[in-house]
Amino acid sequence: MTGAHDGHTPSRREAWKRTATQYATLPLRIFLGVTFVYAAFDKLSDSHYLAGAGDAASFVSQTQAAKDGSPIGWALGPALHAPTFFALLIAFGELAVGLGTLFGLWGRLAAAGGAAISLTLFLTVSWNVSPYYLGNDLAYLMAWTPLVLAGTPYLSIDGYLARRAERDRLRGLPEGAVRRRSLLDGGIAAVALGGAGLLSGSLTATFGRDRKAVAAPAASGTAGTQGDPAPGSTNPAPATGDKVTVAAAGVPVGGSAQVKDPATGDAIYIVQPSAGQYCGFSAICTHSGCTVDAPRDGKMYCPCHGSRFDAKTGAVVNGPATKPLPKYTVTRNGGDLELGGRQS
Ligand code: FES
Repeated sequence: MTGAHDGHTPSRREAWKRTATQYATLPLRIFLGVTFVYAAFDKLSDSHYLAGAGDAASFVSQTQAAKDGSPIGWALGPALHAPTFFALLIAFGELAVGLGTLFGLWGRLAAAGGAAISLTLFLTVSWNVSPYYLGNDLAYLMAWTPLVLAGTPYLSIDGYLARRAERDRLRGLPEGAVRRRSLLDGGIAAVALGGAGLLSGSLTATFGRDRKAVAAPAASGTAGTQGDPAPGSTNPAPATGDKVTVAAAGVPVGGSAQVKDPATGDAIYIVQPSAGQYCGFSAICTHSGCTVDAPRDGKMYCPCHGSRFDAKTGAVVNGPATKPLPKYTVTRNGGDLELGGRQS
């Protein structure tokens, strides 16, 4: 060890290096904290996330899509039986992890929680991504590791509590009392931070959802909206026996309606790329099986790894997907559109 204690006065360069080492995990901590808080509010404000199985972009649809190819598919049953509870659990879990990491409160625990969430997403959503480095959840899992090991000792509530505990020891307070005080004050900070997170998250989930999508499904496709189909509606269509039909009025040019393949149960978007031309596209991403979002601005976006498909042809606009979305024939019978067979 070098420093004033052993008579060696560190040079400015040595002091700078020491400081840089001390704060080495700070950029990572800020990035992960902000990202997890952002991801939580993004979910809570997304009108699709808590929608039911009729919405291809909902938590339950995405979980169902990931179930078959996942090595922990057997463990996803409870999430499918109580999807709202688990969807909220994940969103609020991300919020707790993000706030704990940003403020450095029980930092190791928060990082372990973040690692657990990233591991779960890696084993489900990202499991079939090939090559593996295109899946971001594995990278997040690795990114949490330094924080699990090092905790959040600097510029943090943990750091403040540790320094105060040290002072208490120097004042001669018994070790048990020092620990109790740290635990109690950490708990008070956790309740305050958790309460603020819970309140802001609940307000976002209640009032902050994508109202544009609810009022006009054309924008992003909310399932189950009542009333006349808005332009571009993605309302799930009724199925009669094996015949799947949807009102033509619900599929304007550039819009879509969501139905299900009667054979597989997979979601399909019926679209009208140009006036009078109808077809269907599978909503299952050809990259790794996530459900792509309804057409918006002529594209269909996959939220898992960012692939984009042309809403007129189903072709890949940008990867990692390399194959187009499978296409279905759609025929018009009077005021109805009838789903036909799969073409490709
Ligand atoms: Fe990876 Fe869609 S599943 S981009």
